[in-house]
Amino acid sequence: MINAREVAWGACGQRRPGNKPPMPAELPAADLAAGRVARIGRWAAVRPRDGGDPVAVSRLCRHQGADLSKGSVDPKGCLVCPWHQSRYDVASGRMVAGPRGFLSYHGPTPGYATVIKAVGRVLPLRVRRLVRRGESWSLG
Ligand code: FES
Repeated sequence: MINAREVAWGACGQRRPGNKPPMPAELPAADLAAGRVARIGRWAAVRPRDGGDPVAVSRLCRHQGADLSKGSVDPKGCLVCPWHQSRYDVASGRMVAGPRGFLSYHGPTPGYATVIKAVGRVLPLRVRRLVRRGESWSLG
């Protein structure tokens, strides 16, 4: 059976072009303060502003694929995409507000945002639990 390290580095230990080593599926607890977002493996870990238990959601925004682990948490506890500010309910993974722009344009796009929001509701982000193990969080 081939493990993730062999896929990235090859059986002889040489790195294959274009393949990055896998990100660890563990996150030091200190890196996930209240109201912060961080990467954990192929997921984005989101911690509520009140310091409650974090959850992990799939990292690619349903709009144009931005890395949601570089996003932020708004005052209502929604995950905000770093590119066009689509908002996600992290409990369900559903998009609750559509994008404010597309490609390099940033601004109001009312009809377009409504359509993308409908797509984001039909295809929600995947959601996983995070489990505290000592001084780190792991995917549950
Ligand atoms: S890529 Fe996330 S809102 Fe556009």
